[in-house]
Amino acid sequence: MILNLKKQQVALILLLMTMLVFTGCQSKPAVDPSTVDEFDLSVYPHGDYFITPQDLNDMLGSEELVLLDCNKPDLYAKGHIDGAIGIGLHAFSDKIGKPGDPGWGTIKSKDDLEKTLVDLGIDNDKTVVLYSNVFKGPGADGRGAWQLRMAGLKNVKILLGGTTYWEEVGYELTSEEVPAPTPSAGITLKDYDESFRASKDEIFNKLGNELLIDVRTEKEFKGSQNAGEPRGGHIKGAEHILWTEFLNENGTLKSVEEIDAILGAFDVSKTDDFTLY
Ligand SMILES: *[C@@H]1O[C@H](CO)[C@@H](O)[C@H](O)[C@H]1NC(C)=O
Repeated sequence: MILNLKKQQVALILLLMTMLVFTGCQSKPAVDPSTVDEFDLSVYPHGDYFITPQDLNDMLGSEELVLLDCNKPDLYAKGHIDGAIGIGLHAFSDKIGKPGDPGWGTIKSKDDLEKTLVDLGIDNDKTVVLYSNVFKGPGADGRGAWQLRMAGLKNVKILLGGTTYWEEVGYELTSEEVPAPTPSAGITLKDYDESFRASKDEIFNKLGNELLIDVRTEKEFKGSQNAGEPRGGHIKGAEHILWTEFLNENGTLKSVEEIDAILGAFDVSKTDDFTLY
């Protein structure tokens, strides 16, 4: 009797496991992109920093577009948007020495950046769209867009919600190889606009007077995890807001009211100066 019951239980468990495996393997039901409402970026003061999947899809294949995938190379190889060039995480950065050394992870000089952009087929007129898998991080698309805008390029956008949202809306990724880009005839960058960044001295002088937000993981903030810094932990006085706090679960942006409320909890509004790192 007891043995029978056990056998039944085992059978039930096996059945459940099989069901789980099958449901786990099923691919998501295909979404028809034309049935999905386009996310409204016009309500954001700088909504033009982003492009919706629908607008990007309309531009695919256009000579005007240079599409840059900022995921790690293995992720790019598994699946990227058709025609995207895989530039990895550090394409626009200087990597002098090793992580933690003073020059490591700083931005390329204007001349070096110009060379890199020409090789990628970028000139002053192209629309440059950067994307990554938003939730896998580490935000190399945002950093790239920040740096290109800092160098005076205006037509630079980040794909709203990255590849997660791209797929959620019903578009596909491909593992097909993308031909090497044809270099552009040239590009002229401006000197980096220093208002985009804060120097170590500026931060030091403002300590205690202006909000400093650490957007890294809680473990990095607390110092139990370290992504290459010589010493773990955070800058004294910094507040912690994990960067994903500003995003919806599907990678789109939280509403203006929600973002205002997150910042309001730290007594700042979007017209105040504050620094993120
Ligand atoms: C993405 O998430 C937001 C907020 O939850 C929601 O309003 C929107 O409909 C979602 N978009 C899609 C395509 O699922």
